[in-house]
Amino acid sequence: MRIKGNTKVVGLFGYPVNHSLSPLFQNAAFAELGLNFVYLPFLVHPKNLPQAVKAIKALNLVGVNVTVPHKQKIVPYLDEISPEVEKIGAVNTVVNQKGRLVGYNTDGEGFVNSLREKGFNLRGKRILLLGAGGAALSIGFSLLREKVGEIILVNRTYNRAIDLLNRLKKISPNAFLRVIKFEDRNFFPEREDIDLLINATSVGMSSEDPLLINLKGFSSKVFVYDIVYNRATELLGEAKKRNLFHLNGLGMLIHQGALSFELWTGRKAPLDKMREAMDLKGLKD
Ligand code: ATR
Repeated sequence: MRIKGNTKVVGLFGYPVNHSLSPLFQNAAFAELGLNFVYLPFLVHPKNLPQAVKAIKALNLVGVNVTVPHKQKIVPYLDEISPEVEKIGAVNTVVNQKGRLVGYNTDGEGFVNSLREKGFNLRGKRILLLGAGGAALSIGFSLLREKVGEIILVNRTYNRAIDLLNRLKKISPNAFLRVIKFEDRNFFPEREDIDLLINATSVGMSSEDPLLINLKGFSSKVFVYDIVYNRATELLGEAKKRNLFHLNGLGMLIHQGALSFELWTGRKAPLDKMREAMDLKGLKD
């Protein structure tokens, strides 16, 4: 990559940022299409977020990705937000549109696209969604947009699951949504009718983490999706052992990045090249 006087700059705002894979595959994507763009990580301490947002305009950046812990906090500093951000209250992509900063969230759509790519059609499906944080909210919102049949929510902290239920109900009042208790996750009778099980918690990121849910009792058709991508999780190990369709979080990561890339460049993202850049790091989706 050759940086020139007219190279366009895209950034990543996070704290930390050093673990991020986005610079790797975004720069590979720019290079593949011969775009004069560069993607740089910026370590933005929470107390500096307002100044960092102002710097997008001051430095004429094309835009940024936003990651932990800024996804929600950044919203009030933007000039405009997409209808999706209005509903979920979190941003992962900012586009500098001639000095107006517009916030988008591509996480949920990235999740859906990664499943679509595998030939999984969400319409009418019964889903078990584990987790109630920002990731679960983005995914839940996108599932509703795909007109899934039912979403069963489970979270270690019951009240957060109820909060998520209420937020999703507000977005989609007629959707079939319910919460089951964390203690019941291995026993609830409807588990044999679940089509898609999603781990949207952080469990599995560390090798010391326990197996979050036992796959015994689920049918052989269940698709197991673990949004964790930094290691082969115990949950996906179990799914593999049982010969179940399964997917790790790299698919979601690449697809959310591809949608961001398209927002910044107006060009279709070269998914294969982005994937190849990760393969070189030994990570496979
Ligand atoms: P994010 O925004 O990335 O989703 P988060 O808001 O911190 O992150 O949410 C993390 C999720 O992982 C939560 O659902 C959390 O459950 P709690 O709401 O009970 O905290 C879940 N989680 C983290 N560690 C867990 C563990 N050891 N067992 C079960 N769930 C866990």
